[in-house]
Amino acid sequence: MTDAVHVPVLRAEVVRFLAPKPGEIYVDGTVGLGGHATAILSAGADVRLIGIDRDPVALAHARENLAQFEDRVTLIHGNYRNLAGILSELGIAAIDGFLLDLGLSSLQLDTPDRGFSFRTDGPLDMRMDPTQGRSAADLVNEASVEEIARILRDYGEERFASRIARAIVAVRPIATTGELAAVVRRAIPRRFHERRIDPATRTFQALRIEVNDELRNLHDGLAAGFTVLNPGGIIVAISFHSLEDRIVKHFFRKLATPHYESLAPGPPRPAQAEILTKKPLRPSEQEISENPRARSAKLRACRKR
Ligand SMILES: C[S@@+](CC[C@H](N)C(=O)[O-])C[C@H]1O[C@@H](n2cnc3c(N)ncnc32)[C@H](O)[C@@H]1O
Repeated sequence: MTDAVHVPVLRAEVVRFLAPKPGEIYVDGTVGLGGHATAILSAGADVRLIGIDRDPVALAHARENLAQFEDRVTLIHGNYRNLAGILSELGIAAIDGFLLDLGLSSLQLDTPDRGFSFRTDGPLDMRMDPTQGRSAADLVNEASVEEIARILRDYGEERFASRIARAIVAVRPIATTGELAAVVRRAIPRRFHERRIDPATRTFQALRIEVNDELRNLHDGLAAGFTVLNPGGIIVAISFHSLEDRIVKHFFRKLATPHYESLAPGPPRPAQAEILTKKPLRPSEQEISENPRARSAKLRACRKR
């Protein structure tokens, strides 16, 4: 086991929904440090797990933390959105369960050098995969006021988006998380500062979503997972903010609704899935008090017909 800590959210519930059985194959699309993966692999003697993560540092921890399971685990550095290609390279045609535990690991959030946190100062990076793409610093230093404002509005639901975007462009270049947080805090009028929420929270969330293309990954990843799922297979998704949860909710609802194929005559096509969580599952008060990161988690699950 490595020293790095990330407490898996709703761990028992994930295992209850997936209900792994011997011989089955599971994909953990956000394997992180391997917390949920450990629980899945421990649930059945002969269960196989493919763990994917964009973050090479997380994967290195997962490799150590999952070493006890030996050849039952395959770890892949990649984007869960490319699940079809990843599985075909492994020669796997279908899977029995797919887990997405979205958001950041505690390791990412608590490492100042990764540039995710407004609580500590570090280079403004925010890439889950630091080997590719543009960093948050590239974004805030190169984008137009309009583009920055759109990102803050769409992905942070930030009412002062334009004001913050203008303030960023006026002081840039911005190199660190501390500088960005200070600009945002100054740009939002004092009387709108909330008591327990840092004014920089929404801006940091928005930039992180944009830098990592998180919503498109989720949308495409759910579709990729459902396509390769065996009949009876389960998808479990844990989201941490309303934009993610909305995507999961609508995706599951669409699958669970009978529908007509364009103008084709005949009866509607039957529902392709059954929703297992009428309302999203939330962590208990006790889990939240032991692991505050669980506070905003919502778990949804569906079963393929
Ligand atoms: C909340 S953590 C997962 C923690 C994990 N369930 C555990 O118990 O240790 C989310 C992880 O998903 C990874 N991630 C986010 N988006 C991804 C994507 N599109 N493809 C692959 N990994 C992704 C992040 O790098 C991060 O390590």
